[in-house]
Amino acid sequence: MKKTILGLMLASLSAPTLADVEFLHWWTSQGEIKSLDVLEKQLLKHDIPLQHSPILGGGGDTAMTVLQARALAGNTPDVAQIEGPSIKAWDAVGIVHSVNETGIKHNWDNNLYPLSVAINKTDTGYVALPITLHRLNWMWVNHQLLAQLELDVPKTWPEMFTAMEKAKQANIIPLAIGEEAWQVATLFESLVIAAGGVDFYYKSLVELKSNHIDSDQMRFALKQLRKISNLIDTQQPNQNWDTATKALASNQALFQLGGDWILGDLMASDINVPQQIGCYPAPQSHNAFLYNMDSFIFMAAPDFTQQQANQVADILADKAFQAEFNRVKGSIPVRTDIDLSGFNPCQVKSHNDFEEAVKNQLAIPSMTDSMAVNPVAQQAINSEIFRYYRNAEVTEEEMLRRIISIAQST
Ligand code: BGC
Repeated sequence: MKKTILGLMLASLSAPTLADVEFLHWWTSQGEIKSLDVLEKQLLKHDIPLQHSPILGGGGDTAMTVLQARALAGNTPDVAQIEGPSIKAWDAVGIVHSVNETGIKHNWDNNLYPLSVAINKTDTGYVALPITLHRLNWMWVNHQLLAQLELDVPKTWPEMFTAMEKAKQANIIPLAIGEEAWQVATLFESLVIAAGGVDFYYKSLVELKSNHIDSDQMRFALKQLRKISNLIDTQQPNQNWDTATKALASNQALFQLGGDWILGDLMASDINVPQQIGCYPAPQSHNAFLYNMDSFIFMAAPDFTQQQANQVADILADKAFQAEFNRVKGSIPVRTDIDLSGFNPCQVKSHNDFEEAVKNQLAIPSMTDSMAVNPVAQQAINSEIFRYYRNAEVTEEEMLRRIISIAQST
């Protein structure tokens, strides 16, 4: 059909053409790549190709450094994966498109969990699109190895240590762990919850209160971390969280502690979860729900206008897409109105536990995974904890002093 000049002009006004959308993210594991396929297909349904800018490094610290460098150089990606309080910090810089139009259209005020609203909305409306809600205080258990060692699923840390010691004697890796600061710091968060409870965790690692950091509970949590580092080989270069998951899935490791992106990877390798690998709350944290949330920000640039951002945000806010993305990712949806049939039983448990935890004020943001403190304090604390974990010479007292001084100076 011949198009008139006026027709073409009107079409270009209502639907600006997008050659592609550049997306900066840190989703590089097998499960994450499968979820990205879902995202790519969703955009392609609307004739928008996705141009990936993956930055290696779970937890996203490196990706955030790259994002800052690119912003300083005036070369922002169109869309970026982001977490927690940095959303509002990026918005304050003034280079983030609003997604309020999408929020209104999709009735986010009523459909999202209040937590998703709090993280993604400012006084002027929505500035980011929430996508996943991950639980971090999960313990993943290799059932075959557990049976072989004639053990029950540990519910407490003393039981966990007994199990890990028995595994070590049988030449089985007791705990598969990524040899990265954020991985060790995530493990530490679960130890802090177990040592002092949810309220103590919040005061010490979210509010960074000196009198809570300088405490017996914190000393105890550090000693527990030292016990773990003595039990496992702490010098495994190249071991990321997803290579650790491979050790768990291939019957080399008994346990892994960490977020449910691990579930995404297990499902992507056709591991039967929860039959082969079970999901249980980390010892002594069963009522707590330690979370992080992935969101997307849309970055203003001459070739990525507000109108184009609205178009992409609207496509990614689609309820069916949000459901499918989370199903594959291992996480749970950020909206209240998504039916979880077809999701893995671990996701259903995560969802039920989340609702229960919210009711009882036991849902807590992960400091380590960017949901609580500013990025400078976060990275400094993570690397101190990692240093303690790798170096037996570092004392608990030194560690506490360091964390307090980071808390006071950032
Ligand atoms: C993100 C997850 C991601 C994980 C590992 C976390 O910070 O929230 O989406 O799967 O890092 O890469």
